[in-house]
Amino acid sequence: MKPDLSSARVEVARLRDQLNDFNYQYYVLDDPCVPDAEYDRQLRSLQQLEREYPELLSNDSPTQRVGGQPLEGFTQVTHEVPMLSLDNAFSADELLAFEKRLQDRLNSKITLEFACEPKLDGIAVSLLYDNGVLVRGATRGDGSTGENITANVRTIPSIPLHLRGENYPPILEVRGEIYMPRAGFERLNEQARARQEKPFVNPRNAAAGSLRQLDPRITATRLLQMCCYNVGRVEGYNLPDTHSEVLQLLNAWGLRINAEMDVVQGASQCQQYYENLSEKRDSLAYDIDGIVFKINRLALQQRLGFVSRAPRWAIAYKFPAQEEITRLLDVEFQVGRTGAVTPVARLQPVFVGGVTVSNATLHNMDEVERLGIMVGDSVVIRRAGDVIPQIVKVIENRRPDDAQTIELPIECPVCGSEVEREEGEAAARCSGGLYCQAQRKEAIKHFSSRKALDIDGLGDKLVEQLVDENLIHHAADLFNLTLDQLLPLERMGKKSAENLLESLASSRETTLPRFLYGLGIREVGEATALSLARYFKTLDALMAANEEQLLEVDDVGPIVAHHIHRFVRQPHNIEVINSLQERGVCWPDLQVDAGTRPLEGQIWVLTGTLHTMGRSEGKSRLQELGAKVAGSVSAKTTTLVAGEKSGSKLNKAEDLGIRVLNEEEFIVQLFKLESN
Ligand code: IVH
Repeated sequence: MKPDLSSARVEVARLRDQLNDFNYQYYVLDDPCVPDAEYDRQLRSLQQLEREYPELLSNDSPTQRVGGQPLEGFTQVTHEVPMLSLDNAFSADELLAFEKRLQDRLNSKITLEFACEPKLDGIAVSLLYDNGVLVRGATRGDGSTGENITANVRTIPSIPLHLRGENYPPILEVRGEIYMPRAGFERLNEQARARQEKPFVNPRNAAAGSLRQLDPRITATRLLQMCCYNVGRVEGYNLPDTHSEVLQLLNAWGLRINAEMDVVQGASQCQQYYENLSEKRDSLAYDIDGIVFKINRLALQQRLGFVSRAPRWAIAYKFPAQEEITRLLDVEFQVGRTGAVTPVARLQPVFVGGVTVSNATLHNMDEVERLGIMVGDSVVIRRAGDVIPQIVKVIENRRPDDAQTIELPIECPVCGSEVEREEGEAAARCSGGLYCQAQRKEAIKHFSSRKALDIDGLGDKLVEQLVDENLIHHAADLFNLTLDQLLPLERMGKKSAENLLESLASSRETTLPRFLYGLGIREVGEATALSLARYFKTLDALMAANEEQLLEVDDVGPIVAHHIHRFVRQPHNIEVINSLQERGVCWPDLQVDAGTRPLEGQIWVLTGTLHTMGRSEGKSRLQELGAKVAGSVSAKTTTLVAGEKSGSKLNKAEDLGIRVLNEEEFIVQLFKLESN
């Protein structure tokens, strides 16, 4: 039944307030208070009433975020108060010099108070609120003229269309950064790749591209965020005394501010803040490229004033750059354990992300093609945190005339066997198998690695030397090595040679899962090796199995079954397996006794941080006890182990009434079960 106009008016106002509250909780305070379904229900009720009573529609209604038609182009906006940029500092000394400049200028040695905020890597924008209503959004442009992007900023849920409360200035212009959190960036690029489109190079470019859309319906699909860090024009209102209080006020009016904001005393505490945030940088949900320090007292800011385009009272202390330009000098092809032939870029060494980078993997020929890269090109290289360096793009207009195309070699660069590329596979492979010295080296390194036989003192370089000197051809030869053979090797003292022989001797006693993993069968990782060992109990049974039987094993699909079957039928592999056993490699039989597998049939899930052991150790100990360890909670889950900072899995388990153990309870249970 259609309500009358006056009760519709009341209901519309109630729904709008409610929805604005939900939005504020979710997008500004990061503290969602209702499930999405409830939000959607209320939004639909509001849409329904606004359809029935078009006279109640207003531009700042939560239903009006996405406009109808694409724009023809962006109009220009003049910033009444210019949007400034910041001076930079790159070291602790430059930060101290900044503090000294301020003290000199203020003619005082007092400790200065600074507001500290991450420097967000996005696009600077200005939002204008007239009597609380968002009337204009604009880019910074050159600082005095920017572009009108009102239709686009309206689609960003953390930007209120109407300020909260009543006590806001009649005219308020706020400034801040629009950025794309990493999760939104990953999602956007996944979608781009799925559509075979070019992915964005970094979140900043993705944010800029999203704001530059003439069709706001496209902007609306991008996960953009806004964080406010300053005010521009303010009329009819007396601001508080400090920058940090201004930010708190903006927050109360419904605008998002950065949660890392803090106030400190003097440059030394600024340095401390910088170091703390550098450590936290990789775990933040968004990219930052430094820290901004601002004099907290507005009166002092005023006294200090500006030089040309930057305020004297603020500085951006930048982190080492995560992106740099360098030149691709050459591409070499490396051969891995499974024969994969990988193009590796040799680069003009460049300092990026805090380290000097001179190599980067190009992954495979599809990637070479996607980048359109040639030897001699100038390239953008990115190294963020601990992530391996990546070539993100080629600067095509800097391509030299003598640039050379990159071609997959026809023959393996190590053994000369034919290089094959299977239908539908990105990787090309050397067909030489263990005839290929590179594959042999990698196979031996894998066999001796920590999760396989764990041979102490046998590093990668040593394996390469041993193979190059023809002292070993395959893993079994390791166990025939003698002191006389080892001593003449480069950088090999008597003590380390003896230690190596000793650790070789002791690593002979291993377990069946480690042995299977160490064989390096394609697609057989630790977990699959464990499942295989569990299922077949003995190596002989596994080697005798056909593909159908292999498919019975947990985690084993047709491709893996095929690889295993092929591997254990190759005469060379059988020979290596036999010689390993002849040279004393052995393992205890796996218990068939059900008494040692008390968790058989149960499904456990581990979530959050476990302090006494890693999740992977917890997982393998549960598997030893017979449990299946799953990645997500479902109605079939028997028990959830919730470590510190457990998130949605814990909520789900509680909703489903599943047994939850904390870390301490889990350890007690493990010990009990293991000691039975
Ligand atoms: S304050 C007058 N605070 O950095 C002060 N800027 O290099 C003006 N930026 O164009 C800026 N995070 O896009 C300020 N917390 C922050 C910032 C920040 C990022 C950007 C902003 C500005 C550029 C200056």
